Order: sequence, then structure tokens, then C-alpha cells
Amino acid sequence: MRVVMLGAPGSGKGTQAKQLVKAYGAPQLSTGDLLRAAVKAASPIGLRAKAAMDEGRLVSDDIVLGLIQETLDGPHGPRDFILDGFPRNLAQAVALDELLTRLVRPLQAAILIDVSADELKRRIAGRRTCRDCGAIYNIYTAPSAREGVCDLCGGQTYQRADDNEATVAQRLATYEAETAPLIGYYRSRDLLHSVPGEQPVDAIFAALRAIADGLD
Ligand code: AP5
Ligand code: MG
Repeated sequence: MRVVMLGAPGSGKGTQAKQLVKAYGAPQLSTGDLLRAAVKAASPIGLRAKAAMDEGRLVSDDIVLGLIQETLDGPHGPRDFILDGFPRNLAQAVALDELLTRLVRPLQAAILIDVSADELKRRIAGRRTCRDCGAIYNIYTAPSAREGVCDLCGGQTYQRADDNEATVAQRLATYEAETAPLIGYYRSRDLLHSVPGEQPVDAIFAALRAIADGLD
């Protein structure tokens, strides 16, 4: 499958992408995860990206497009992929279309997980992430068995630096201004599928499976 996961911060893109990886074997490409790894490593990309991430604004297109190109381009790039958190504005969406047209690996669907702003804030406030394997927990809805310890790998869980009130408000505003227009972009290309996101993780995943199983 070649799909884009669309949705506001905290809507569950990462949670669902990980389930899709398990069920379908296509790799998850999360620009947020790639950027956080670059920040942690203090690489040149990480140093350039950090300020925007801390403020809840988009990292510049040239950095993000470079990461995506590095991963998807070339004869050994993956045929299938689950893009999580990319594209995030119109310029990125157009660049992705151009890249995939050149690679003859067209996008099959853009899947929107639709969640209200109040629920997004609650989910983000409760999120904890494993430092080692990236597993996603929530202290309210999906806690790890032992507080602070990942069920899957025993790593330490932490709260993301951008999951604070001020940054979250800016991330939601950035989403509305720059990313939400992609809903219309993909609808006009007949690629959009919208899934109600305020239901249990398993129910959302069942809806995603139905969409994935219907792709050409
Ligand atoms: P990124 O890492 O992509 O963050 P985001 O879009 O803000 O999305 P999140 O990861 O916060 O949410 P999610 O939808 O993955 O939700 P999750 O599954 O974790 O980006 C971070 C930053 O990097 C950006 O602000 C930007 O600066 C930069 N960046 C990244 N990509 C970029 C790009 N393309 N261009 C430019 N800059 C870019 O779930 C959230 C919580 O809810 C968890 O605790 C989970 O357990 C819980 N949960 C999930 N589903 C449910 C459910 N059904 N019911 C109850 N709880 C649930
Ligand atoms: Mg995520």
C-alpha cells in the first residue's frame, strides 16, 4: 500500500501507522520521528529543525523533502509505504506527487483521522513515547503496564518536548492553516478517505483495514 496518513497533532496517525506496519508489512515513514532522531543526534539537520519543532511550526520544506527523497527515491526505495506526518502543506504534497510520478509508484489513498480539538489536547497531554522503540502510550487511555517502562522493549517512556500547552496550541494552529487544506487537495484527486477518530483504537484500525483491503 502507498498511503498518506492525514490528521491533526494527536489524532492517532502514529498509533495507527504502527498497526498497519504489523498487518501489511509496508514501512512507516514519519517525518516527525526522523526529525526527532536528527535533533537527538545533534546532526546538521537536527540543529536546523529544532527551533521550529520547539515552537510548533513546520520545519522548512527543503529539509523535510530531503529526508523523504533520501528514503523513497532510487531503485531500492520501498514500493509500499505509510507516510505519517508528511506531506504537511501544499508544496510538500505537490513535490510528493512529482516524486511518485517519476518513480511510477502513485499514491493510492490519503486517510484522514478526524478528531475534535478538545480530544486532541487530552490525547497529547497524556501521551508517553518509548525512547528506544518509539511505542506510543497514553496515561489515560493506553498506559504501559509499569509506569515509565515500555511494555514492548523495557525502554524508558517520556513526554515529547513539544507536548506542552504553548507548543500544542501553535501546532494545532499550524495544522489548520497549512495542513488542513490538503484534505481538499486529496478529495479533488479522489484519494481521500475520512475515518471518525473518536472511537477505540481497534475500531479505527478496522476501518483502516477495510480501506487498505480495497486499494488496487
Ligand atoms: P509529528 O511528530 O508528525 O507530530 P504531529 O503531527 O503533531 O502528530 P503527533 O505525533 O503529535 O500525533 P499522532 O497523530 O501521531 O498521534 P499518536 O498516534 O501519537 O511532528 C512534530 C513536529 O515535527 C512538527 O510540529 C513539525 O515541527 C515537525 N514536522 C514533522 N513533519 C513535518 C513536515 N512534513 N513538514 C514540516 N515539519 C514537520 O496519538 C496521540 C495520543 O493519543 C497517544 O497517547 C495515543 O496513545 C492516543 N491515542 C491514539 N489513538 C487513540 C484513540 N483512538 N483513542 C484514545 N487515545 C488514542
Ligand atoms: Mg506521530
